Amino acid sequence: MSDDAVFITVEGVEGAGKTTCLGLIEQKIRDRGRDLLVTREPGGTPLGEDLRTLLLGHRHDGMADDTELLLMFAARAEHLHAKIEPALTSGSWVLCDRFTDATYAYQGYGRGIDLQRIAALENWVQGERRPDLTILMDLPVEVGLERAGKRSAPDRFESQALAFFERVRQGYLAMAADQPQRFRVIDAAKPLADVTAQIASVIDAFFADSAS
Ligand code: TMP
Repeated sequence: MSDDAVFITVEGVEGAGKTTCLGLIEQKIRDRGRDLLVTREPGGTPLGEDLRTLLLGHRHDGMADDTELLLMFAARAEHLHAKIEPALTSGSWVLCDRFTDATYAYQGYGRGIDLQRIAALENWVQGERRPDLTILMDLPVEVGLERAGKRSAPDRFESQALAFFERVRQGYLAMAADQPQRFRVIDAAKPLADVTAQIASVIDAFFADSAS
C-alpha cells in the first residue's frame, strides 16, 4: 500500500443506498488503521452546512440554476480549503458523500447547464484535485425515490420530476462509462447482502491495486 492519502467519493440518485455504502467503506478503511475524514457535500463545514440548508430547503424554490451551481461550488471551495485539503496533506484518507460528479449529474445533466461551464468552475475551485475512486450506487430512479420518500418530506431536489432524476442517472452512467479508471458502478437494486458484497469486493480490489 502506498502512503499517499486517498480521496474516495460515493455518488448516486436519491435512495440508492449511499449511507450503507459509506458505512461499509469507512469500516474497511478504519480496519486498515488509516486516519479517515468522513464528510459530505453540500456541507462538511459550518458555512457549507448553512449553504446546504439554503440549497435543500424550500425557502428559495425557484432559485436560478446558475445560483444553485455557484452555491454548490462555494460550499465546495470552503470544504476543500478547510477540511479536505488539510486532511489529505496530513496523510488522512477522505471519504466524501457526493462531490463534483453530483454537480455534473444534477446541475449539468439534470438542469441542463453546459458541462463546459461546470468544468471551468471545477478547474478553478479544485485545481488538479479529483477523487481517486468514485463508487456510483446505481438503480432505477423509481425505486430510489420510493425508498427516499419513505424517509422524510421531500427536499428541493427530491421534489423534482421523475424525468429530472432519469437525466441525473443517465449522466452518472455516462461519466462512469467515460472514466472507468476512477468509477466503480454498484448495482444497488439488488438485495442488501449482494450490494454489500459488491462494495466489499470493489474496495478490496482497490486496496490490492494500491498495494501493487
Ligand atoms: P443528499 O446528500 O442527501 O443526497 O442530498 C444532497 C442533494 O444535493 C442531492 O439531491 C443532490 C444535490 N446535489 C447537487 O445537486 N449538486 C451537487 O454538487 C451536490 C454535492 C449535491
